[in-house]
Amino acid sequence: MQFSVQTANPAKAETDCVVVPVFKDGELLPAAAKLDDASERLIGQLVERGDFDATLGNVLMVPFAPGLCTARLMLVGLGKQENCQETAFLRALDAASEALIKLPADDAVTTFIDVPLEDRDSAWKARKILEAIVRAGYRFDRFKSSPTPLSSLKQLTLTAHDSDDARHIEAGAQEGLAIGDGINYTRTLANLPGNVCTPRYLAGEAEILATESSGALTAEILDEDALEALGAGSLLSVGRGSAEPTRLIVMHYRGADNPDEAPHVLVGKGITFDSGGISLKPGAGMDEMKFDMGGAASVFGTAKAVLGIRPRLNLVFIVAAAENMPGSKATKPGDIVTTLKGLTVEVLNTDAEGRLALCDALTYAERFEPASVVDIATLTGAVITGLGHHASGLLSNDDDIALDVLDAGETAWDRAWHLPLWDEYQQQLDSNFADLANIGGAPAGTITAGCFLSRFTDNYPWAHLDIAGTAWHSGKQKGATGRPVGLLTQYLLDRQNEADVEDAER
Ligand code: BES
Ligand code: MN
Ligand code: ZN
Repeated sequence: MQFSVQTANPAKAETDCVVVPVFKDGELLPAAAKLDDASERLIGQLVERGDFDATLGNVLMVPFAPGLCTARLMLVGLGKQENCQETAFLRALDAASEALIKLPADDAVTTFIDVPLEDRDSAWKARKILEAIVRAGYRFDRFKSSPTPLSSLKQLTLTAHDSDDARHIEAGAQEGLAIGDGINYTRTLANLPGNVCTPRYLAGEAEILATESSGALTAEILDEDALEALGAGSLLSVGRGSAEPTRLIVMHYRGADNPDEAPHVLVGKGITFDSGGISLKPGAGMDEMKFDMGGAASVFGTAKAVLGIRPRLNLVFIVAAAENMPGSKATKPGDIVTTLKGLTVEVLNTDAEGRLALCDALTYAERFEPASVVDIATLTGAVITGLGHHASGLLSNDDDIALDVLDAGETAWDRAWHLPLWDEYQQQLDSNFADLANIGGAPAGTITAGCFLSRFTDNYPWAHLDIAGTAWHSGKQKGATGRPVGLLTQYLLDRQNEADVEDAER
């Protein structure tokens, strides 16, 4: 997708379609008013006659537009002006994007920048407009005999109020494009079936990303021998029952002016299929456990977005990749494993494998002396009970980082909710036979999973995102969402802005 920004009157735009958001009550927005003036009040009349109902998410295609230079007009309902906040804006935008992508149109002009939103500037809207159109164009039909034809849309023009506005829109749109690409990449990796997307497949993706980055990203893969030599007995214990070998994937992005600047580290849970192991899961819906590498997929997607944006930061992306299967060599309930940190863990439930994989990756992260570490994992079913499918769960050992992650989620509209990591919960992990157990009983399952990880993160500021409820949709819409790539990319961009402000003050 290409984009451009224009300040000219949209009535003069020679294009295949102009997209016009319209409030149910209230006046036409500035670009809509100009289009209305130039077309003998086409838009106003359609609304007045009841031919267009501007309820939120309604779309009306007007196949020709006298007086205008466009081939067609797309009216998009915004609902009532008083309810126009981010959620409404994004719903209307998704409806418009999905309709636009289906049109026989090569290019289009969108006037969504006009929609007034408190506390959101043109750059934010531009970013969301590009993100939405890129997401709408996503298809996953690698395994279909007859793929759905690709959209013909190649060029999207955003209208700006003036040249200053245009510069902000340009910057926001560029980010939105990169983030949209990152989201779609995450969706593809997560949607791939477990028999294709194995730990070795993910390792291969890291090498492809590195090759395509022309030197900006390097990849290092630790195989089972390397992990054995290192002492990563916990990560290795997860893959023991599988014929697919375990991998620890490490990617470096060096974008900071100072090559020694402390990196921010992202760590993803990459269980390419979670059968539960010997603590086997029930059969219903087990196919969805191919999404159990959603955290890893979001780390790859964020790396992709970063390569599109090239922030001046040092970053490390780590993926702990294994397949959790009940083979004859599988870890059994009661087995005790030794982690890379040296702590021993009594595995009371082999289905609590994510924390066993992540803890060694989190210890591995120590060697980079990180400025911060964020891990992302489809870790607990309990987070779905608590937060449903709208918020990711957030746990952290540092309130500043927790706030930074929450803020990034607000900005990206990919939100998280903070849960307590109080000491009182830690004793649920006591074991009679080892330093700790890998499960903490029924109460507060998301928090005790966070407690487990916290035992391995005392040497740096750390946040954990439990994305079990947000990484994919079930049911008819089954498929990966690409979350939380938006949050993570924003988190990193915010760290760059923070560094820029500190530099300016110095
Ligand atoms: N990958 C699952 C978590 C999960 C479950 C995500 C359902 C999405 C939907 C994780 O490995 C797991 O099995 N967790 C267990 C932990 C329990 C055994 C303490 C869970 O949540 O049931
Ligand atoms: Mn599990
Ligand atoms: Zn799992």
